[in-house]
Amino acid sequence: MTFKEEIKRRRTFGIISHPDAGKTTLTEKLLLFGGAIHVAGAVKSNKIKKTATSDFMEIEKQRGISVATSVMGFNYDGYKINILDTPGHQDFAEDTYRTLTAVDSAIIVIDGAKGVEMQTRKLMEVCRMRNTPVMVFINKLDRPGKDPFELLDEIEEELNIAVRPLAWPVGNGDQFQGVYNIFEENLYLFTPAKQTLEKGIEIKDIADQQLSDHIGDSAADKLREELELVLGVYPDFDHEAYLNGQLAPVFFGSALNNFGVRELLHAFLKLAPSPRPSITESRLVQPDEEKFSGFVFKIHANMDPNHRNRLAFVKICSGKFQRNTNYYHVGLGKQMKFSSPTAFMAEKKSIIDEAFPGDIIGIPDSGNFKIGDSLSEGEKLKFKGLPSFSPELFQYIENADPMKSKQLNKGIDQLMDEGVAQLFINQFNGRKIIGTVGALQFEVIQYRLLHEYSAACRYEPIKLYKACWIKSSDKAQLDDFKKRKVQYMAKDKYGRDVFLADSSYMLQMAQESFKNIEFHFTSEF
Ligand code: G4P
Repeated sequence: MTFKEEIKRRRTFGIISHPDAGKTTLTEKLLLFGGAIHVAGAVKSNKIKKTATSDFMEIEKQRGISVATSVMGFNYDGYKINILDTPGHQDFAEDTYRTLTAVDSAIIVIDGAKGVEMQTRKLMEVCRMRNTPVMVFINKLDRPGKDPFELLDEIEEELNIAVRPLAWPVGNGDQFQGVYNIFEENLYLFTPAKQTLEKGIEIKDIADQQLSDHIGDSAADKLREELELVLGVYPDFDHEAYLNGQLAPVFFGSALNNFGVRELLHAFLKLAPSPRPSITESRLVQPDEEKFSGFVFKIHANMDPNHRNRLAFVKICSGKFQRNTNYYHVGLGKQMKFSSPTAFMAEKKSIIDEAFPGDIIGIPDSGNFKIGDSLSEGEKLKFKGLPSFSPELFQYIENADPMKSKQLNKGIDQLMDEGVAQLFINQFNGRKIIGTVGALQFEVIQYRLLHEYSAACRYEPIKLYKACWIKSSDKAQLDDFKKRKVQYMAKDKYGRDVFLADSSYMLQMAQESFKNIEFHFTSEF
């Protein structure tokens, strides 16, 4: 196979959803259809259990296990599929956002009874930042749910994206009879079946009397009417608009019952993009460029607390990656070669000799990598699209054991490199502030500092509303702002100016009084 064919057959994507919509179930069913696993339950058992929400050690343990399913690669029908798993737990939302920077497209799962939920909205925002093409799978049709037209309107409105159904449900809940596949123009009748992968009865032409024979006259008429309406209301499916992230094709089904999953997978493989170009600060990197490049989007640590070993996840953006070859670590400015890069095929991790654009490889690391680092064949590439988001919770972090301050600083540094949380240094009093998305991270940091770095920390409360990155071309105003707000000024890990607003009122006042200053809620702008 040629290099270009290798790229073309790759589909690297993430499945995202509000917790409980069915992301894990769908992931598993795609693996089952793809022949990558043979029994249901393999992915499920690695899921962070709901009962563990207050027990962070249990969560860390489970996160350790879930490294095996962070990336699930398999071959199906000539395609190489890489599914990137994203943690469902809200406190790890930032992990999810970062993982989305490594995908070429996404499937959003929505619970047909609940519709668009909070986390769905946030995830869509992240997809929009990079114009990631998204498909929607409306799940749990075997349960009573909302009207499909209502759901489509809700998605369009709340997720701010045009929709085009490529499937249409026949009834729902007890009355759920099947899904008409608009994309392939056939109808499969529903048989509840959690374990088997049967196709169900196929009806090729819905005008045929056969349809009424199977689902009854009124359901058949309703389907015909609704389809006419769908095809009348929604313009023809515009593939280009989907690839540009402006239009979401919508599918219906029941992941638990293996229903509608095959249709989704087949349409996905045909429509979803192969690896897309990557944006760097200097230029666009095309996947088919000869020279290798890639970036680190995730670091998984803590697999063996005694060795402090970590695994850096690298997305390959261009060229062919080869084992034991010298590559340039842009951040450190030095050549490195990797003797045991791993690929993630289904449930197994194995050492690979080469990998192609779209693939994710794991590189064992003893502390050389941080999130966002680039590898290349010499070019100083800096990939864009790995922003930090303004955290929501803040605390001062203090050394609880003066004899161990070196260990503490090293530990904090490394944990921040992994992206566990963000560190800000207050410019007025020099104190360190940890900002996180979820409360759990504070415990995780404290625990890991103690167990991996033998350092003790304690937290002190700080009243903060938001941290925002500030920028201005009006130097005089910026200097004036920094002088007046000196108590509220901090630097992030990269030395960028951050304003710590202690209330929404304070932030609003600042925005109104300093018109020439931009206040940003992500670190990349
Ligand atoms: P998540 O990863 O998005 O959080 O969701 P997950 O797949 O874990 O699914 C959440 C719950 O919804 C699970 O039930 C799962 O079995 C159920 N579910 C998924 N797809 C369907 C579907 O098509 N129909 C119906 N009726 N239910 C579905 P649970 O009781 O929380 O877990 P479990 O005990 O069944 O494993």
